Amino acid sequence: MSETPNRLVTAVILVAAGSGQRLGYGMPKAAVPLGGEPILMHALRGIVASGISSQVCIALPAGNDGLRRLCEDFREELADGGPLLTIVDGGATRADSVRAGLDALMDGTDAVMVHDAARALTPDSVFHRIADALAAGAEAVIPAIAVVDTVKTVKATAGGGSPAPEVVTGTAPREDLRAVQTPQGFRLPTLQRAHEAARSLDPQQSAAVTDDALLVEMTGTPVHVVRGSTQSLKITTPLDLILAEGLLEGPLGARWVEG
Ligand code: CTP
Ligand code: MG
Repeated sequence: MSETPNRLVTAVILVAAGSGQRLGYGMPKAAVPLGGEPILMHALRGIVASGISSQVCIALPAGNDGLRRLCEDFREELADGGPLLTIVDGGATRADSVRAGLDALMDGTDAVMVHDAARALTPDSVFHRIADALAAGAEAVIPAIAVVDTVKTVKATAGGGSPAPEVVTGTAPREDLRAVQTPQGFRLPTLQRAHEAARSLDPQQSAAVTDDALLVEMTGTPVHVVRGSTQSLKITTPLDLILAEGLLEGPLGARWVEG
């Protein structure tokens, strides 16, 4: 009898506990409507449709009954056959929300993908590229796309007689730069170790942790990179929401080029 090679029991931690300050809707971003449905539902349907996970652990803003009910209704909609849906209270920072998710994973989980609900339109292909790299032996793997802007580092000028508030200190070689997305995939012990080590960071260091891969990088484990997608945009500002609405309507059609 032939076994499926390297089939890893994989969970997704969907972090959806942010407040959505920059979107400015006065409600958690996960609840903001996109194409007539809350952003959270798009993210959940995308994960389930990809078929890569045995469990989806959703970190919600603590005490948000509306979002909790939405997840519970979706759980019923899935009935049998779908992944186990687990709901946890998120924390004060994104990393705290990820840790709350880690604490709720089923025994026997081999790998975990951490995904931002804000990247609600991430295509199946990206989940599969991450799953394939994990199955091929990667401890950590992230999706990324090329950077289109020229990126420079700057520092503040002394003020007073300076003609502008900042001055350039360097220009990063663009061909070496990547804009990093989610889902970010890890062997479970690798991510657990990285988050455990992060508990000893001071508040300033913690504030600089914007993704899970950075914590893994700090432990010295190589982080592999696969192709992401321009469709996985992070809905952050009102402009992003307009772009996401446009993507849902599909107006780019044949002109769409996978980034
Ligand atoms: N997130 C989370 N818990 C937090 C902060 C963020 O689960 N304490 C999640 C968000 O829900 C989002 C992802 O992490 O899916 C990326 O965060 P971001 O885009 O910054 O979302 P918000 O924090 O909600 O937005 P803002 O920073 O504008 O308030
Ligand atoms: Mg935030």
